[in-house]
Amino acid sequence: MSRVAYVNGRFLPLSAAMVSVEDRGFQFADGVYEVIYLKDSRLIDAELHLARLSRSLAAIGMAPPMSQAALLCLMAELIRRNRLSDGLLYLQITRGAAPREHAFPRPLPKPTVVMTLRRAPAFPKDLNAWAAAAITYPDQRWARCDIKTVGLLPNVLAKQAARERGAQEAILIDANGMVTEGASSTVWIVDAAGRLCTRTLDHAVLPGCTREAVAALLARQGIAWTERPFSLAEMQAAREVFLTSATSFVRPITAIDENPVGNGQVGELTRKVFDIFARHVAEEAAATPAGKAA
Ligand code: PDD
Repeated sequence: MSRVAYVNGRFLPLSAAMVSVEDRGFQFADGVYEVIYLKDSRLIDAELHLARLSRSLAAIGMAPPMSQAALLCLMAELIRRNRLSDGLLYLQITRGAAPREHAFPRPLPKPTVVMTLRRAPAFPKDLNAWAAAAITYPDQRWARCDIKTVGLLPNVLAKQAARERGAQEAILIDANGMVTEGASSTVWIVDAAGRLCTRTLDHAVLPGCTREAVAALLARQGIAWTERPFSLAEMQAAREVFLTSATSFVRPITAIDENPVGNGQVGELTRKVFDIFARHVAEEAAATPAGKAA
C-alpha cells in the first residue's frame, strides 16, 4: 500500500504530496517540527511532543495553526489511512509560502502543515544488539538549539561524519570542550563516580521528550540522577554512556571515537533505564488511544 501524507488540509499519496517552492521552510528553514514514535497504533509521549511543539512555535513567533485536539485527530486519521501500527510520525509546520523576503510576510500566509508516517524498526529487545558507536564532533549550531527547528544542516553534517566513520551518532562538543547533545539525541553518562547525569537544559540543547519521560520514570523508581554540564574528558572517563530520543529510545553507546566506553559492554544502569523505559512504552501503547493522548 502506498504511503499517505497530510499536507495543508488534505490526505494525499506521498508522491503527490507537495509544498510550494516559495515555502519558507524550504527558503529559510523558517519552521519547526516534531518526531513521535508510534507503537501499536499509539503515539508515545504525544502530550510531551505537543507541549514542546507549542513552545517551539511560540519561540519563532508563530500562532499554532490549530488546536492540539485537532492536530491529534489528524494524526489519528493519518495512522488509520497508512494502516501502520509501528512507526515514526513526522510533523513539520512552517510560516507558509510567500514571495521571498527575510522578515515575516505581510499579510501572514497560512502556515504549512505537513505530516508523514513511516515504518520504523520494532522496539529493540536485545540491548547488546541495540548498542551503538558514536563519534565526537564540534557543535556548530546556532544559539537557540532549544527550539526544534527544521534548520538541521549542522546536525546533518555531524551525522554524515558519524556514518563515514562507521558510527551511528555524533556527540556534539561546544567550544569550551563541554558535551551538548547528540546530533539527534540527548546524551546521558554514568560518570566515573557512578552518578547518572545528563546536561542541564538551556539554549544549547533541545529539551528531549524522551529525556523528560525518563526523568519522570527515574523519579518514580527512586533512581538518583543529576542535571549538570559535563565535559568531553568526563564523558571519555564515564563508566556508561547512553542516548535518548524518540527514534533511539534508550540506546547504549559502547564506543566513542573508536575507544570503548567503560569495559565496552552495555552497562548495568543503562540496562535498568532501558527496561524502565520499555515498560513505559508498553504501558503507553496499551493505554493511550491515538487521537486522545492530550
Ligand atoms: N531528534 N536533541 C536533538 C538535537 C534532537 O534532534 C532530538 C530528537 C533529541 C531528543 O528529543 P526527543 O527525545 O524528544 O526525541 C535531542 C529527532 C528524533 C529527529 O530529529 O529525528
